[in-house]
Amino acid sequence: MSNTNPIGLFDSGIGGTSIWKEIHSLLPFENTIYLADSKNAPYGIKSKEEIIDLSIKNTELLLNKNSKLIVVACNTATTNAIKELRLKYKVPFIGIEPAIKPAANKTNTHTIGILATKGTLNSELFHKNVENFSDVKIIEQVGHGLVQLIENGDIESTEMTLLLKSYIEPMLEQNIDYLVLGCSHYPYLIPQLRKIIPTNVKIIDSGEAVAKQTQHILNQYKLTNSSNEQSYQHFYTNSDSKVLKTILKNDSTVFEKNF
Ligand code: DGL
Repeated sequence: MSNTNPIGLFDSGIGGTSIWKEIHSLLPFENTIYLADSKNAPYGIKSKEEIIDLSIKNTELLLNKNSKLIVVACNTATTNAIKELRLKYKVPFIGIEPAIKPAANKTNTHTIGILATKGTLNSELFHKNVENFSDVKIIEQVGHGLVQLIENGDIESTEMTLLLKSYIEPMLEQNIDYLVLGCSHYPYLIPQLRKIIPTNVKIIDSGEAVAKQTQHILNQYKLTNSSNEQSYQHFYTNSDSKVLKTILKNDSTVFEKNF
């Protein structure tokens, strides 16, 4: 395995680019390959078996492109499939899980909210994580419909604002002081959320922590890219690339491909 090989990332769609952005900003010399499985989005309403099958399909594609490490840039795929992926493949995997710990440790109202997919909130891994914080009230809310609207590029639509209000206002009434974004699509909603949520309520996601963990694992496995060559950033989508292109920087290369 060469350290110039790319980091592979996958998500059910364009949301995991929020994780890619954090990784690229911390590790700009790393080559990356990102798979947006938008054709199969949303994963959050699928069965565990379906999520495992799709995660295996994405992993095989990334391994065929010589990925040295794989970031599962999707909470739903991580919480449902990362155990199976680690058992099946030798490559190191980094997963993303809702950042409950930092919110639970810092809350003053002892009440935090979490917005995530049904697949994440129903997963065994998520339940185990929550059990560690029994002294904090954790209000769980499924973000029905949000991923589809983001995938369609309808982030600033009235429909989005109404959905977000219906999910967030009941949490505010219960006095949350932290809102955990437990889906890698949701950081793209922060500007909309900030219009609904008072400034004393903090919004947190897992992007920065995942980037730091990626850096740590690359060092540990001696896989950090030490080449001085300009890195490449390749994105593959199995759907229309329009929305993906609008959320990426110009220096990225986007391919439409059936996978
Ligand atoms: N980005 C995925 C996540 O982090 C969205 C899942 C979905 O497609 O429903 O959970």
